[in-house]
Amino acid sequence: MSKPIESTTTVPLHDGAKIPIIGLGVYQADVGEETQQAVRWAIKHGYRHVDTAALYRNEEDVGKGIKASGVPRDQLFVTTKIWNSAHGYDNTLAAGRESLKKLDIGYIDLLLMHAPGSSTVSTWQAMAKLKEDGVCKSIGVSNFGIHHLTELQKATGILPTVNQLELSPYLQNREIVQYCHANGIVVEGYSPLTKGRKLNDPLLVEIAKRYPGKSTAQLLIRWSLQQGYVTIPKSSKEERIKANIDVFDFELSQEDMDRLGQLEEHLVTGWDPTTSPWNP
Ligand SMILES: NC(=O)c1ccc[n+]([C@@H]2O[C@H](COP(=O)([O-])OP(=O)(O)OC[C@H]3O[C@@H](n4cnc5c(N)ncnc54)[C@H](OP(=O)(O)O)[C@@H]3O)[C@@H](O)[C@H]2O)c1
Repeated sequence: MSKPIESTTTVPLHDGAKIPIIGLGVYQADVGEETQQAVRWAIKHGYRHVDTAALYRNEEDVGKGIKASGVPRDQLFVTTKIWNSAHGYDNTLAAGRESLKKLDIGYIDLLLMHAPGSSTVSTWQAMAKLKEDGVCKSIGVSNFGIHHLTELQKATGILPTVNQLELSPYLQNREIVQYCHANGIVVEGYSPLTKGRKLNDPLLVEIAKRYPGKSTAQLLIRWSLQQGYVTIPKSSKEERIKANIDVFDFELSQEDMDRLGQLEEHLVTGWDPTTSPWNP
């Protein structure tokens, strides 16, 4: 029998590193105190993982929140991402170093290519160099479809540790997930709460009633975890940040996992570059 998951559970990456199974997302957390406070609250309530990006413009605040938390750096895991405007070898080298400068936390745990683009291969080669140089410990991708993954692997021979993509019962991306799991790529799901859009779905509300004290948001996070995904719910509110990690004392029954599995409706809440390269 496999070990039950806990808030401190980590998932091994193929390069030997380990990623905490739950993290705080900070997309649309405002620059300044809002992000710093969210990071401090998250760490206070047991998170050890924060997901930011150059695009979010709050890397500096993530770094400040981390430093103010008092938790040693080596117990925390920080992801940031190379935005599409920084694709290409030299641009990516500069962007990765710039992200680390803003974060100011010694190293980046996981550097992701935010999405496939026109210079995916040279971007990926520069990310491998950033790893070699100690700017980051691991490199991965985001929003990659199967063809993006196979093309990258064929061109460079370097397998991403992680593919971060939108995942919820309403957008299950089953084929990409299956491909990643079969090839040793950890699947990390973003927008696990559907950006709040489905939290009042009557079916979710009905299922939540079977788990006393648990909300539909907690149900969705639990679904992600039981699917085997690393998950990164975002909130800037302390009570929600706390509630979103309070999901390790209950388990969705197989029957409810099956019901949730039937909710697929290709609900993309932001963007979907997995189907073709995204060109701004
Ligand atoms: N790689 C990519 O392309 C990509 C794309 C999108 C997201 N991401 C990452 O994934 C993270 C999460 O995704 P997301 O931010 O798009 O959406 P999300 O986590 O699905 O939802 C966040 C929304 O839900 C609300 N919320 C949070 N907890 C709640 C709760 N317990 N009850 C009710 N409402 C709640 C938040 O509002 P409040 O803040 O007001 O609580 C916010 O409006 C991002 O922050 C980012 O780090 C990556």
